[in-house]
Order: sequence, then structure tokens, then C-alpha cells
Amino acid sequence: MSKTALITGITGQDGAYLAEYLIKKGYTVHGLKRRSSLFNTERIDHLYQDPHVENRNLILHYGDLTDSLNLTRVICETQPDEIYNLAAMSHVKVSFDTPEYTANADGLGVLRILEAVRLLGLTKKTRIYQASTSELYGLVQEVPQKETTPFYPRSPYAVAKLYGYWIIVNYREAYGMHASNGILFNHESPLRGETFVTRKVTRAIARIALGMQDKVYMGNLSAKRDWGHAKDYVRAMHLILQQDKPDDYVIASGVTTSIREFILRAFREIGAELRFQGSGINETGLLDAVDDKVFSQKIGPEYLDAFRKKIGRELVGIDANYFRPTEVDLLIGNADKARKKLGWEPEYTLQTLIEDMMQSDIKLMKKDSYLKQGGYHVLNYFE
Ligand code: NAP
Ligand code: GDD
Repeated sequence: MSKTALITGITGQDGAYLAEYLIKKGYTVHGLKRRSSLFNTERIDHLYQDPHVENRNLILHYGDLTDSLNLTRVICETQPDEIYNLAAMSHVKVSFDTPEYTANADGLGVLRILEAVRLLGLTKKTRIYQASTSELYGLVQEVPQKETTPFYPRSPYAVAKLYGYWIIVNYREAYGMHASNGILFNHESPLRGETFVTRKVTRAIARIALGMQDKVYMGNLSAKRDWGHAKDYVRAMHLILQQDKPDDYVIASGVTTSIREFILRAFREIGAELRFQGSGINETGLLDAVDDKVFSQKIGPEYLDAFRKKIGRELVGIDANYFRPTEVDLLIGNADKARKKLGWEPEYTLQTLIEDMMQSDIKLMKKDSYLKQGGYHVLNYFE
């Protein structure tokens, strides 16, 4: 018998990889998507099946985490064996601008799902995965962070996720529900939203190399993150729900890197050596040298002369608008529990993650259609 999963946030980075992964495993996947005036299903278009196809394994439902009746109806209609609650207003900086909405969707949204499962009498059937986050550790109380490290959230996003974390634990203890938290550290990919730091950098480097953009403005370059690949992290989500007992797990690479270092390494990927000088909002990243062979191989010899003219110029600047009112300075996770109990091991390193993202963004930006459109329509990630 094939299993049925419901994924909220199926149109996001993790939702897309998880849907693909579960379909390959023989699941029937239901996804919750928000109504939007523009198409918002680009990341899962390669999985889409026309509603008239018989025995579809991907079925989308309109819905929203702020709408209890909708969630209850969709869960009632789909009777899922597993729910992956990935939907969220997931941008930390934006949560300072939309704190009430963030609390509603990211905090109360979790409660709505738990209550729907309970009221529908599905507590014994339906297992629930909650997308918890390393942002819970915020102003870190221990290095590295593990499951027992005290939380200290530093943004409306993290505070909302803290509610989500504890309501999962509470319903597990109160009603015996199979509800688990995956405390995932940052994970990235070619599908990452364009305003998260890694994707902003890889996208900008590809555009600068192709002469589509002169410079990129960044925020705090000194923050450090523990980055992994989203493909590895969705495998962990699935493993968590396959355990006999529900529990909470840290999923992390165990390596931390500053934003500055990430930028240097991503530029190196196209044969460009950057040099940072100055400090605070006056810090700049100048192009120091170009490896002609690597650049020609990765970007194309026809772009080399124009790029070499940028030597000595500022390619990275700082814009204070990208700083956060309260910052999370350092994240580094200890995933020993997941390794031991789940048998989870990541396949990607930071280096292979950067290679994957750079390669994908160069290909994307080089597309004729993309260039003609001014570069703002990001389609067909999976090509
Ligand atoms: P993402 O790309 O921003 O995707 C978020 C998804 O949630 C999108 O499908 C979005 O729909 C949907 N969504 C937002 N608000 C909603 C609402 N009110 N009702 C229904 N759907 C809503 O995020 P991600 O990187 O895939 O992350 C997945 C989950 O893991 C999130 O909960 C995030 O907070 C958490 N997390 C992420 C990381 C990470 O490093 N990526 C680490 C730890 C935890 P639209 O496509 O319509 O916007
Ligand atoms: N977005 C962004 N843009 N971040 C920048 C920039 C910039 O121009 N410049 C510096 N940064 C710094 C941020 O201040 C932060 O310290 C770090 O880069 C990472 O920022 P994001 O990529 O936006 O991710 P995040 O760590 O705030 O949040 C992500 O990871 C969390 C898990 O730790 C999101 O995916 C969250 O949803 C997730 O919970």
C-alpha cells in the first residue's frame, strides 16, 4: 500500500525537493499551495500532472496556514499518513516588517494543523513533521548547538517558530501524537529563494560575470552559518517520520562559515579572486585577479575581456538596510543524534553546494530568453 503525504509549503525550496523525493518512493503526495496572481509552482512544475490523469501521485490544494477551516477540510479529504509542515513566512529580515502575520502563520499555523488532526480523529494514523529551525538558538548559549541547547530566539520569525516547536512537543506529550521537530540548520540549493544570502550571492556573481550587473550590495558579512544542501535535509525529514517514536533532531553539517568567506569561495568558482578592504558599512570587495582559464571554462571566453576590465573595481558593497535589528551571529550544529538514531549522513559539502548553485545560476542567467526578459523570471530550475 502506498503512503499518502500532505506537504504544506510544497511550492517552496524544501517542499519541491521533498515532493520529488516522496514521489520517487511511491507516495501519493498532496500539496497545499497559496492562491497567487502569478504562477507560484515553478519549482514543482516538472512533477505536475493534469487533473484529468488517472491515479495521480501529485495533487495540489489551495490553502493557507492562517485558515483553520481550510486546513481541516484538506486534511479530512486527504487522510494523510504523514504531514510535513514546511509552510512558513521563512525570511528572518522580513519577519521584522510583518511580525503579526509571521506569528499567525509560523506559530499558530502549527497549532491549527495539530488541532485539525486531533479533531478529525487522526491522532493514531497521521504523523507530523514540523519545520523547526536553528534560528531558535539565536543568541547562542552553547557551541556547537544540539537538541539540549537552550533556545534564545532573536527575531519575530524565530519567536513564532519557538511556539511551533513547543506546541509540537506539547501535543506529543498530551495526546500521544507522533509529532516531531526537525531543527534544521541553513540549507540551500539552486532552488533557494533569491533573497536568501547564498542564492543572492551566486545569482549576483553569475550576472556580474556575464556583464548583466556591476555590483552587489550585502548586509552583515561577519555572521557565520552552518550550510548544507536542501536535498540532504529533506531525506532527514522523511527519516524522522519513519521512526517508531516521535522525537526532535538537529540536522546540520557541523561546519560554520562567514558570509564573507562564502562570497570569496563563490567568486573563486568562476576563477575570480576578491579582496575585502575597509570595515562595517565601508567594507568593499574588489576584484583582485582573474584566472583566465577557469573563467573561460566556467563562463565563456567571449566574456573574459570585459570581466578583466573590472580588476580593481568594487564588486561587493554594503547597504545598511540589509542589517537586522537583532542578528544571529554564529550557528554551528551538532547532528550526532541524527547520525546515530536516523543513520543520516549528508552527501554534499559546502564546496559541492557552492559548485551546484554557481553552475545552476550561470546556466540560468545565460539563457537567451532569460536575458531578453531582463533576468527577472526564474523558470525551469530543473532543466
Ligand atoms: P521557502 O522556500 O520560503 O518556502 C516556504 C513555503 O511556505 C512556500 O511554499 C510558501 O508559499 C509557503 N507559505 C508561506 N506562507 C504560507 C501560508 N501562510 N500558508 C501556506 N503556505 C505558506 O522556505 P524553505 O527554505 O523551503 O523552508 C521550508 C520550511 O523550513 C520553512 O518553514 C522554513 O521556515 C523552515 N526552515 C528552513 C531552513 C532553510 O535553511 N531553508 C532552515 C530551517 C527551517 P509561496 O511559494 O506561495 O510563497
Ligand atoms: N538575506 C540576506 N541578504 N542575508 C544577508 C545579507 C543579504 O544581503 N548580507 C548578509 N546577510 C546575513 C544575514 O544577516 C544572516 O546573518 C545571514 O546572512 C543568513 O541570512 P539568510 O540567508 O537570509 O538566512 P537566515 O540564516 O537569516 O535564515 C534562514 O535559515 C534559517 C535557519 O537557520 C532561513 O531559511 C530561515 O527560514 C531558517 O529558519
